[in-house]
Amino acid sequence: MTAVSSTFDTDFFRSALGRFATGVTVVTGPDREHPGLAVGLTVSSFNSVSLSPPLVLWSLAKQSRSLPHFLHGSGYVIHVLGASQLALAKRFAWGEQAERFREHPLRTSPNGLPMLADPGCSAWFECRPYACHEAGDHIIFIGEVTHCERNAHQPLIYHAGDFDLTPSQD
Ligand SMILES: Cc1cc2nc3c(=O)[nH]c(=O)nc-3n(C[C@H](O)[C@H](O)[C@H](O)COP(=O)(O)O)c2cc1C
Repeated sequence: MTAVSSTFDTDFFRSALGRFATGVTVVTGPDREHPGLAVGLTVSSFNSVSLSPPLVLWSLAKQSRSLPHFLHGSGYVIHVLGASQLALAKRFAWGEQAERFREHPLRTSPNGLPMLADPGCSAWFECRPYACHEAGDHIIFIGEVTHCERNAHQPLIYHAGDFDLTPSQD
């Protein structure tokens, strides 16, 4: 089956895109309305852009409730989730924003941004805003990485609209 441009089938397009396996991240940033608090969501659109300067990207739906916080914020932290963090990924995708951090405490990144304290992350990237581009129903965020960390945890994988529950090798 193919999708033809004149009668473009969005559901089919989405399912074709889903054949591309990705990692899973949670992006956190300051809550602009409540100083000291954070906003965050599950994101699979993360990718690398440039080594020098060190740039990464992710895209955020225009309908996302956290959009104003990231558009006008001082930066964000992208956490690459480990295989043990399935519940966290679900909570940050489907839970209410106010509930997301209830069981997932925060700590502060080197430049003072709120980030997950959970030691199960495979890597994290602290970013300052570099560029934003409007693209259809999403905004593409390009961040300049100011600090990053990694460890040997197996990554959480998302494929064909579902999380890959292959047992962790940790
Ligand atoms: C595996 C997975 C990946 C996702 N990736 C993205 C993404 O890249 N961009 C996006 O805008 N939403 C993505 N979402 C959906 C958001 O996590 C979800 O809509 C979230 O509730 C948005 O929160 P907010 O409205 O509080 O900003 C993803 C969801 C899942 C389960």
